[in-house]
Amino acid sequence: MKEYKRYMVTSALPYANGPVHIGHLAGVYVPADIYARYLRLRGRDVVFVGGSDEHGVPITIKARKEGVSPKEIVDRYHALIKESFERFGISFDVYSRTTSAIHHQTASDFFKTLYEKGCFVEKETEQYYDEEAQQFLADRYITGVCPYCRNERAYGDQCEQCGTSLNPIDLINPRSALSGSVPVMRATKHWYLPLENYDSFLRKWILEEHKEWKPNVYGQCKSWLDLGLQPRAVTRDLDWGIPVPIEGAEGKVLYVWFDAPIGYISNTRELLPDTWQDYWKSDDSCIVHFIGKDNIVFHCIIFPAMLKAEGSYVLPRNVPANEFLNLENDKISTTRNWAVWLHEYLDDFPGKEDVLRYVLTANAPETKDNNFTWKDFQDRNNNELVAIYGNFVNRTMVLTHRYFNGKTPETSLWTDVDRETMQEIALIREKVENALENYRFREALKEAMSLARLGNKYLADAEPWKIIKTDEARTRTILNLALQLTTNMALLFEPFLPFSSAKLKNMLRLPDIPWERIGESDLLPAGHELNKPVLLFEKVEDDAIEKQLQRLGSLKTTNAQQDCKAAPAKPDILFDEFSTIDIRTGTILEAAKVPKTDKLMKLLVDTGIDKRTIVSGIAPYFTPEELPGKQVSVVVNLAPRTLKGVVSQGMLLLAEDADGKLVFVVPERAVANGSTIS
Ligand code: MF3
Ligand code: ZN
Repeated sequence: MKEYKRYMVTSALPYANGPVHIGHLAGVYVPADIYARYLRLRGRDVVFVGGSDEHGVPITIKARKEGVSPKEIVDRYHALIKESFERFGISFDVYSRTTSAIHHQTASDFFKTLYEKGCFVEKETEQYYDEEAQQFLADRYITGVCPYCRNERAYGDQCEQCGTSLNPIDLINPRSALSGSVPVMRATKHWYLPLENYDSFLRKWILEEHKEWKPNVYGQCKSWLDLGLQPRAVTRDLDWGIPVPIEGAEGKVLYVWFDAPIGYISNTRELLPDTWQDYWKSDDSCIVHFIGKDNIVFHCIIFPAMLKAEGSYVLPRNVPANEFLNLENDKISTTRNWAVWLHEYLDDFPGKEDVLRYVLTANAPETKDNNFTWKDFQDRNNNELVAIYGNFVNRTMVLTHRYFNGKTPETSLWTDVDRETMQEIALIREKVENALENYRFREALKEAMSLARLGNKYLADAEPWKIIKTDEARTRTILNLALQLTTNMALLFEPFLPFSSAKLKNMLRLPDIPWERIGESDLLPAGHELNKPVLLFEKVEDDAIEKQLQRLGSLKTTNAQQDCKAAPAKPDILFDEFSTIDIRTGTILEAAKVPKTDKLMKLLVDTGIDKRTIVSGIAPYFTPEELPGKQVSVVVNLAPRTLKGVVSQGMLLLAEDADGKLVFVVPERAVANGSTIS
């Protein structure tokens, strides 16, 4: 790998409008942390920067929902996020926030520089304005009917029912989410960065000079460039953010995507007031941005254009963006509360930080979206961490204590297998390094795991427990080498599983050993005394997994309830009209599908008054076998109708759930057939 004098590792600043979840971790923070830890172990000069993104509309929406100030929201979530990252071992050198004074200053100055250099174009456009609330409306603050699917609660930027991205102007019957009033069009002035002027610079820099970027990143950049870049507004009419520092911009703030990436710079300044420029303005520096795929355009196109416009900064060397992680086959969503939250995980699984780090790396969505399931979490822990890595370490430690009083035994002559095994270590190290340096973290972890597999196999084949009585000298050699393997594992796993490595190093009473010595087979001298073994990993039992699945299950129910958008009520009817409808309880006696239809089921129902045939459109939701015996509610005085040649005498009452599935409406407990419902 080309060596740079300094490394600047950044990870996307999470919005402080909710806690961090496993999708953030798998996509951004775990790989960034592995990379930063690896560089440090290689003795490189590295700064790993993080922080909370505290401006923008998502924060103000959350605040409105709770009836508190945006400041209260960001204070709460910044503290929670920062603490959970610390507990999880994300080794930031600095974790700050975009509401800090130094960030406001840095971002404000950055804007001013660009303004004074004439990099912006000023444009007046018409935007929706809420006259009651006396403010311009962010896209999210306008709701209306989706022109595509007629969803009545679409937002000005997107319809969440059909997924189409919208402009506020597309909405039918637009309403302000602030006051409910009908917004009007009003002229407003904003400053735009004319991205199209950077087209040839970006094409050359990305498409020609960075062909080595990940295909998903390169591909997304190329399609943005091919579509043609447009001027981007970098200011907004909003009362939460960094004031636009020029005359005539009162009441306007910097666009959150203008200020947030500058946060990387501000946070470095906060950490290193005297030397921060070495990382951001020197050609010796290697800047790497870890982000999720939804951030690619901001980090590969807009931010570089900003840096280029400013003129004194260097550009990132790489942007190894990941795809998305799903949870139990469903898209993770903060607003829908469908997630595994980091702080909850840490509470529920104390001491198992590395298990989550392992599973999220082994399953990292590096080239395509991937899926997290609790079952896979349990399997990987029990069958890989416990059964391979943990098992090898434990056997080695226990046997050394049992046979040799916990002291590293000396070696005598090596066999061919010994030699081959020990040679393998250095080869594995090289593969791990190569994968890490090319941002292939899954592969790197898999290679590291192959060292644990190697150790396990070595011990299983050598069977020291069988020869201790007959050949003590050979047993000593085997356990010496097993301990050397263990030591190498403690070092090699450190970027990935730092908690376990610390535990293991403590067990082995290891002094500091540089990464470069991984591969050596005399890291522990004969006679070196070990501490008592403790288990490196422990089984995850079914009940722990069951508990998590139950929690998700109840979330699903709440979500379904919230997602179910009730249709508006029908026009009023008089009581007398209502009381003409005769509804009774009944029981299904027989059920059969109506031939040549998909939906219709022919039922024989005991209504208490008689036994009659009713045809109902429930075939997609029930099998004929499960229906007999079910209690139902029946409209018994509906005039007979003929459906597909069958005369239906009445109608069953059914409710439709959020997915359009039908369920029976029945009394809370069984009552006699023919009881009236009113
Ligand atoms: N808050 C943004 C998000 O969660 C990421 C901001 S990254 C930065 O998508 F570069 F702008 F800081
Ligand atoms: Zn729609």
